[in-house]
Amino acid sequence: ASTSDEHDVVVIGGGPGGYVAAIKAAQLGLKTACVEMRGSLGGTCLNVGCIPSKAMLNNSHLFHMAQHEFKDRGIDVGDVKLNLDAMLAKKDSAVKSLTSGIEFLFKKNKVDYVKGKASFTSANELSIAPIDGGSSYPLRAKNFIIATGSEPSPFKGVEVDEKQIVTSTGALALQKVPEKMIVIGGGIIGLEMGSVWSRLGAEVTVVEYLGAVGAGMDGTTAKTFGRILQKQGLKMKLNTKVINATQEGGKVQVNVESAKGGKPETLEADVVLLSIGRRPYTEGLNLEAAGVEMNERGQVKIQSDFKTSVPHIRCIGDVTYGAMLAHKAEEEGIAAVEYIKEGHGHVNYDNIPSVIYTHPEVAWTGKTEEEVKKAGIKYNIGTFPFVANSRAKTNGDFEGSVKIISDAETDRMLGVHIIGPNAGEMIAEAVLALEYGASSEDVARTCHAHPTLSEAFKEACMATHDKAIHA
Ligand code: FAD
Ligand code: NAI
Repeated sequence: ASTSDEHDVVVIGGGPGGYVAAIKAAQLGLKTACVEMRGSLGGTCLNVGCIPSKAMLNNSHLFHMAQHEFKDRGIDVGDVKLNLDAMLAKKDSAVKSLTSGIEFLFKKNKVDYVKGKASFTSANELSIAPIDGGSSYPLRAKNFIIATGSEPSPFKGVEVDEKQIVTSTGALALQKVPEKMIVIGGGIIGLEMGSVWSRLGAEVTVVEYLGAVGAGMDGTTAKTFGRILQKQGLKMKLNTKVINATQEGGKVQVNVESAKGGKPETLEADVVLLSIGRRPYTEGLNLEAAGVEMNERGQVKIQSDFKTSVPHIRCIGDVTYGAMLAHKAEEEGIAAVEYIKEGHGHVNYDNIPSVIYTHPEVAWTGKTEEEVKKAGIKYNIGTFPFVANSRAKTNGDFEGSVKIISDAETDRMLGVHIIGPNAGEMIAEAVLALEYGASSEDVARTCHAHPTLSEAFKEACMATHDKAIHA
């Protein structure tokens, strides 16, 4: 390519970090290209992550409701049967419409969509290997943004075949409901996908190394959540270490022992889901040729303005530091482009919401009680149970509560932890409150419509500095 074709920005990776960065860059008037090797845009999130998992969570929840709850609600539907093929097809069509939607947005915003695998040849040039074959060609740019995402962490002794021993990708496409399923790792993927297959009829056992599920969420919230899942039928083996897995007689045998050592045991299942975390993905990117450094965990090293060790190459999303979440990657994508164009950008890492889309949902933002305690901050806690919220009662869906942590001296809200119906939507109010430095009293004095679930949020705020009305 001649210098006249040189792009202002080339983004490597078309996931939520990369595609959002590319659109924003084009909107700011920068000549932009986005390189993606998958054959469709949207990255892990749209293709094999957030979107297909939420389609399966929603539809498996409806199936479970139809099977176990409709009758009690006065809805007789006769014999409820699962059509797994149709459910999987529905998931695939949700994915297809959203990924092609991004392709449309690229056209609309004049982002050049480069379908190929990118590899650095120098700090100023990539070599693109086209996905449909053909010879590689160079692509030059003034600025690069690395957004190559992550992949499932492997575990020695548990070899993934995506049929019987699967990662989330295989777990989103099982052709048959397994009789027994073992989930290794009680984090977000394990609990979401474990819930899906449990609702569809599998007997699910979650093996977790730590003493609680939920991968680091607020302590009391994790305990309550664990209890709720157990009540739903998920078996939990906490404080348990996996040694290895073998395959025999069409089944998988998982050898485990107590995390503290000893007490070996063999569990058997039809399908094993390995969900012990994800790791940064930089395979074939040839970062060495560009001089971009990584740390010992394989994360691309960056500064607060997303610059790597080579200043005109920035990096965002799962492949660098921080929470591996789509919305975090998107925020970084916009901020990184603003740094390139305007010299400043902003992401508030203290207020990135997390949501687990089980039923009930779990959502949180800001600090956990453990973190506040450790920091030596004096704090107040206000809680409000959904069982005392009129809308939740009317809906017959009232498990969980809202927990607010605020500074005891200033009443400034420091953290919010919700288990409950639609917690993932409700957390937006908490994020906004924390972003604007609200006190619990500020929210308590804000009018919330009746009857809505959001009144539980208001009442938890009332309970933080004073008293709730309905509890
Ligand atoms: P990715 O989405 O991983 O995208 C990177 C892209 O770069 C990929 O498409 C890849 O093909 C491409 N690429 C890599 N190397 C190259 C190269 N050399 N050349 C060209 N292209 C390249 N997060 C949430 O916030 N909410 C959720 O509900 C949620 N659910 C999830 C469910 C599952 C099962 C999984 C696995 C993840 C989920 N996540 C969720 C996490 C979310 O998917 C990631 O945080 C998000 O996709 C990260 O975005 P990214 O742009 O950094 O990387
Ligand atoms: P995770 O980090 O959420 O959980 C991994 C769990 O496995 C932890 O609880 C950990 O203690 C446990 N573990 C680790 N090694 C183990 C071992 N050897 N034996 C038993 N347990 C072990 O990772 P997960 O669930 O794989 O998800 C990866 C990431 O994907 C998440 O951290 C999240 O960022 C993202 N994601 C987000 C979703 C959402 O936002 N709703 C949904 C799904 C994934």
